[in-house]
Amino acid sequence: MNDVYCLAIESSCDETSVAIIKNGVFEVADIILSQIDIHSLYGGVVPEIASRKHIENITIVIDEALKKANMTMDDIDYIAVTYGPGLIGSLLIGVLAAKTLAFVYNKPIVPVHHIIGHIYANNLVKRLEFPLIALVVSGGHTELIYMDKDYSFKKIGGTLDDAVGEAYDKVGRVLNLPYPAGPEVDRLAHIGNDTYNLPIPLDDKTYNFSFSGLKSAVINLKHNEEQRGNTININDLATSFQNRVVDILVKKTIRALKEYKVNNLIIAGGVAANNGLRERLTEESKKLGFSLVLPLKKNCTDNAAMIGSASYYAYKLGKTSNLNFSAKANDELC
Ligand code: KG4
Ligand code: ZN
Repeated sequence: MNDVYCLAIESSCDETSVAIIKNGVFEVADIILSQIDIHSLYGGVVPEIASRKHIENITIVIDEALKKANMTMDDIDYIAVTYGPGLIGSLLIGVLAAKTLAFVYNKPIVPVHHIIGHIYANNLVKRLEFPLIALVVSGGHTELIYMDKDYSFKKIGGTLDDAVGEAYDKVGRVLNLPYPAGPEVDRLAHIGNDTYNLPIPLDDKTYNFSFSGLKSAVINLKHNEEQRGNTININDLATSFQNRVVDILVKKTIRALKEYKVNNLIIAGGVAANNGLRERLTEESKKLGFSLVLPLKKNCTDNAAMIGSASYYAYKLGKTSNLNFSAKANDELC
């Protein structure tokens, strides 16, 4: 069979990224232009600035990816693009660029759901094995997804309020840590001790997740201690917070593996870069004997390589689109 080359575009938030992926598994080129330095000045992503930066950068990043791959558009078989969910202004730029390339060069186009992309970041490490459970932990999602084959998704639990990455970022903000706070809270959590008595997030029989109570407990604790003139040990607070988060993520994930009789676990999304979570799941996989794939850290946060990988299986299933599809700010995976 001939090799299939995809040019993939991801612009759902504040990264302008273009990748060229061969046969769904091999990264020929992956360029990620992050805008974090600009947005961290404001303590979070400013949608208007994000979309303007995507406009400035998108053609440069497309050119750079082709140059790095030593390819031209003639070598590309099809275009893939994130259509949603995400910031609508940001998504529109990637979708417009992808449609333009598809139209001008007469190539098929595959619109990809952002979370499916995060899941397939694992496929760039090791070909997915089914059935599997995917623990999706990002800035906007905390979900458990069951897959029995490529491109087949059944949600078994999801976010009830703050997603896990959002809780990390909000906790980081009150602790005066730079945006996005996840990596810094993770680093501090490895220095401190679990000394603060924080509530366990939604420990029930469902596979849903709720982190807003834990987040509020951290914020209230900080304010109350400050009002009493006491200083907070930020490292200890980070450890206590991270332990409660990791405890519940791991507990519900392992219960799902057992109930669904699944031996393959993958994790996906920005919080999949969390060392606390990676370490605990690695320990559990050794103890319980399930197979665990961890995405490369560079492919945990938003990137086009994961979109290119996912799109290959959609392409093989004939899920190409005409140019009438739209960017969608909100779109449930399943
Ligand atoms: O997947 P992603 O890039 O964007 C969304 O699709 O939402 O995830 C970004 C999130 C941010 O909330 C960031 O703080 C979090 O991932 N994050 C982490 C770590 N690295 C990134 N959270 C905890 N620990 C980390 N090491
Ligand atoms: Zn993402």
